[in-house]
Amino acid sequence: MINEIEVIKTKNSKINEVDFSNLKFGSVFSDHMLECDFKDGKWQAPKVVPYAPISLDPAAKIFHYGQSVFEGMKAYKDADGNVLLFRPIDNVKRLNISSKRLAIPEIPENYFMDGLKTLLEVDEAWIPTQDGSSLYIRPFVFASGAGFHASPANEYKFIIATAPSGAYFSGEVRVLIEEKYSRSANGGVGYAKAGGNYAGQFYPTQLAIEKGYQQVIWTDDNTHEYIEEAGAMNIFVRINDTLITGPTSDRILDGITRKSIIELAESENINVEVRPLKVAEVVEAAKNGSLKEMFGAGTAAVISPISGFGYKGDDFELPKLEDTYASFLKKRITDIQTNKVEDPFGWRLQV
Ligand code: PLP
Ligand code: COI
Repeated sequence: MINEIEVIKTKNSKINEVDFSNLKFGSVFSDHMLECDFKDGKWQAPKVVPYAPISLDPAAKIFHYGQSVFEGMKAYKDADGNVLLFRPIDNVKRLNISSKRLAIPEIPENYFMDGLKTLLEVDEAWIPTQDGSSLYIRPFVFASGAGFHASPANEYKFIIATAPSGAYFSGEVRVLIEEKYSRSANGGVGYAKAGGNYAGQFYPTQLAIEKGYQQVIWTDDNTHEYIEEAGAMNIFVRINDTLITGPTSDRILDGITRKSIIELAESENINVEVRPLKVAEVVEAAKNGSLKEMFGAGTAAVISPISGFGYKGDDFELPKLEDTYASFLKKRITDIQTNKVEDPFGWRLQV
């Protein structure tokens, strides 16, 4: 158990400098952050402190060996001003699953949850209420301990920073289905939210952006024949009336939005198949007209419809349907998140 969390408040709030009606994703940061150090073999008491640069030893192992993991969550405010989180315990558990894989000491769940609740209390005014906006929450842990020896550090920092945010994608999303590079491999770290997984995606994604796409859809490293996930979201494909997504594995992030969408869709009697999905099947469906939708699902991306995809030099357009599963499911999930409707699943947590 931890007692009351120490709070050191800023004397210079930046909140009046922020245009809440015009928020980008993750580019302005709230006044405070949660900070917690691992030293002398244990996690010390977390504190809420003013958001500010941190000082690190140049030999800190994060810089050399990339020992870092993170999470992505959102806080919402409902019409009565209640502060809400969506399945937060799943993020705490996943952070620790990621940490374990990177040989980072796991954070006690109550340090995370009590710390986050205190941080949200202190920065409550930073939670946007505009439609489509929320307070993006970024918990992360990294090796702050110094040394050039390639082995786990003996000191770590756990920080939760927050950013009032709008949509992750600013326009349409076209994706390139990858045929050369891989994001992850069997036995690797693909299932962990490890910082290095994202660094490794940047170069192939830059190449895709130069060709006019916004994201890469990764395929399995072994054959490049199966759809896995996108850079920042899991992928769903609708063929006729069936919604299909690949199974999670040690190469794919077990997305909280993904598993919520599966449950939601099934509860709405949408036929969902969780099974390996061949690129060839999607291409064939695009050609014969049975491919109705593709969308990405993730905390930052929410549900982002995909307007077209490229594969092996060919481009395929998705039809522009009036009523899509994507818009229906997006409304259902965001209504639950923001307390506009009942939450029969018990996903929402008021803090
Ligand atoms: N896949 C990757 C690689 C991601 O970075 C994310 C975002 O967190 C997701 C999937 C979606 O996961 P979640 O729905 O838990 O945010
Ligand atoms: C999230 O959706 O929260 C993520 O962490 C994805 C990130 C790359 C923005």
